[in-house]
Amino acid sequence: MRTIIIYESTHHGNTKKLVEAIAAEQNVDVVSIENAEAIDLSDYDMVGLAAGIAYGKFYKRTENFATKIPRDVNVFLLYTCGNPSDGYVKNITKTLEANGAKVMGSYGCKGYDTYGPFKLIGGIAKGHPTEEEIRGAVAFYHKML
Ligand SMILES: Cc1cc2nc3c(=O)[nH]c(=O)nc-3n(C[C@H](O)[C@H](O)[C@H](O)COP(=O)(O)O)c2cc1C
Repeated sequence: MRTIIIYESTHHGNTKKLVEAIAAEQNVDVVSIENAEAIDLSDYDMVGLAAGIAYGKFYKRTENFATKIPRDVNVFLLYTCGNPSDGYVKNITKTLEANGAKVMGSYGCKGYDTYGPFKLIGGIAKGHPTEEEIRGAVAFYHKML
């Protein structure tokens, strides 16, 4: 079983913490979204898409990359956000399924957020993702296997 996780974690590296914890497992490769085009996804059994959330969706480059994922690829989703909502996976799931990819599941948790006005109050979701949330991401990955 080989997995690749493609990540975009530009705000505070919050999502990257989840990705790195999973990457400590066997047979998991990791690549940042900038380098994702060069990857042959057919070398992998599972593809993880990991990003922060902006304006209620996965970051734009990741949402765009989802349009290029071929049919029958098994995909799981990882994200961090300032203010959790199940709805954040909606758009990317729709895109993936419209192309015939299989969305196996998603895991999201809070991530330190200093966007816009939140900066003035020192940010929200300080200290997130916590160790427990990071362990939760690893446990989620085990369920996907
Ligand atoms: C431009 C921008 C827009 C954001 N919009 C949302 C949002 O709609 N909902 C939310 O819960 N968090 C939002 N956030 C917070 C980030 O999703 C959160 O801090 C996330 O953990 C950042 O992940 P990263 O450090 O891996 O980039 C936004 C952050 C930025 C920079």
